[in-house]
Amino acid sequence: MSASTKTIHDELFTIRDFIRWGASEFNAAKLYFGHGTENAWDEAEQLVLHAINLTPPLADEWLGSRLTLSERERVINNLQRRVNERIPAAYITGQAWFAGLPFKVDERVLVPRSPIGELIEKQFHPWLSKEPARILDLCTGSGCIGIACAYAFPDAEIQLSDISFDALEVAEENIQRHNLEDRIFAIQSDLFVNLSGQKFDLIVSNPPYVDAEDLASMPDEYHAEPEIGLGSGDDGLDFTRRLLNEVADYLTDDGVLIVEVGNSWVALDAAYPDLPFTWIEFERGGHGVFMLKKADLLQLSN
Ligand SMILES: C[S@@+](CC[C@H](N)C(=O)[O-])C[C@H]1O[C@@H](n2cnc3c(N)ncnc32)[C@H](O)[C@@H]1O
Repeated sequence: MSASTKTIHDELFTIRDFIRWGASEFNAAKLYFGHGTENAWDEAEQLVLHAINLTPPLADEWLGSRLTLSERERVINNLQRRVNERIPAAYITGQAWFAGLPFKVDERVLVPRSPIGELIEKQFHPWLSKEPARILDLCTGSGCIGIACAYAFPDAEIQLSDISFDALEVAEENIQRHNLEDRIFAIQSDLFVNLSGQKFDLIVSNPPYVDAEDLASMPDEYHAEPEIGLGSGDDGLDFTRRLLNEVADYLTDDGVLIVEVGNSWVALDAAYPDLPFTWIEFERGGHGVFMLKKADLLQLSN
């Protein structure tokens, strides 16, 4: 950081002062944004407000409030960590928002940011023909997708699964935080290995899908996240190929599959010319999420 901590203490007093200063420092350090916020101001606001136990967005009349000495110390520490460690803000605050809900996060899980959140908020309209009774969140990480689905479908039973025991510990904490232990269950499984015999009306997955070229050129902030959650072979599709080969056995007859593959959508579409992928469009941004029905998938298992 360019200014000494003493200078900062002598010259900055209000919430607005610290957000403005943090945003300027972030831009000067050429930080990357994309783990929950899209610009330096929003990122600084998140870190400043977390340090003083407030939640964005803050009403304008509060921005001129002066901070106490201990509050300023906590704020400066948050902002300096973001610059010096180049980790996503959510790993500093320990919290991320997804589909309007708070989730605990740390370095054991990816920071939730999937555009699938928008679909969940709309109860996947118009892709489901009936309310799903059983939902699988495959590759659950923090549990954000499955837990948000539990709010969208209050009668559904939800299965979360992930290959990573570390990630599942975080998911379990989030299940408890949302008091959903009665109808959300988490299991360790490499793809479907420990899910044999189960059927779901809806399978949702945000799996690892980054191709080797993109993985090598990602900003530092991504390298703070578990690599097992990002990379999936040369073309990013190792996991998704396995998924497509096996998933029909785990869907009910009118079951629906929704999967995010991001930039790898071009390679996937080309690799499966006979599969009728529906590529979903988003109002709030994002791309590379497809929908398939069980009937579409049966041709792959035959
Ligand atoms: C992109 S992260 C998604 C996390 C979360 N669903 C979200 O949207 O934030 C992918 C997750 O897939 C898990 N994963 C990777 N390979 C897997 C496999 N073979 N079987 C099950 N889970 C796997 C990783 O541990 C990671 O938590």
